Amino acid sequence: MITPMPVVVLISGSGSNLQAIMDACASGKINARVCAVISNKPGAYGLERAKAAGIPTHCIDHTLFSNRDSFEAALSQCIDDYAPGLIALAGFMRILGTAFIERYQGRMLNIHPSLLPHFPGLNTHQRVLDAKHHYHGCTVHFVTQELDGGPPIAFSKLEVNSPETAETLASRVLVLEHKLYPTVISLFAEKRLYMEDNIAILDGEPLHAPIDITQIQTRKIS
Ligand code: GAR
Repeated sequence: MITPMPVVVLISGSGSNLQAIMDACASGKINARVCAVISNKPGAYGLERAKAAGIPTHCIDHTLFSNRDSFEAALSQCIDDYAPGLIALAGFMRILGTAFIERYQGRMLNIHPSLLPHFPGLNTHQRVLDAKHHYHGCTVHFVTQELDGGPPIAFSKLEVNSPETAETLASRVLVLEHKLYPTVISLFAEKRLYMEDNIAILDGEPLHAPIDITQIQTRKIS
């Protein structure tokens, strides 16, 4: 058994994905440990979740910095103190700059609440309803310079019900997220997943499209 990979999780809010990741680490489902949680929002509930699990927390409030570069310099310094193998964005609602992304390229993941490449950006659930799409879900991808456009790794999907609201969709998608994100982090921690030349590689094969979580599960990840 290799040493658990240290993971820094960045959040801005409730931290339910963070909770799923912490739980999966604690139960040994993934060979990783959350070594720190950093929020850009002082009141983020995820900070309480981390404290309850005995994990170091930091708040780096972006509103206290005069520009993006100085905020991101402070963020990097805090991250680097933990020498993480992975940085997991879990509901982190700040757009990141070029130098920051470059620094962590290939070891920074994000979970996005849509079936990418559909609906990058915000308000995905309402936009899915407005567009009358029949399917929706979430995607985990490597973070690159393109907003929500880095190499996608895996997705989990559901059928849009009728009637359905943005709120019901958001909570149904979150349930999927809580399974998908730990699953993908597990693959990364086991070094079965990495990024090369802007392409995600899983078990030595380039992923030209994200794979369905059900296919990952049948590959027997754990
Ligand atoms: C999740 O739905 C996540 O996919 C989304 O924010 C929510 C955070 O929930 N992320 C984004 O929209 C990133 N652009 P959580 O704080 O309960 O994990």
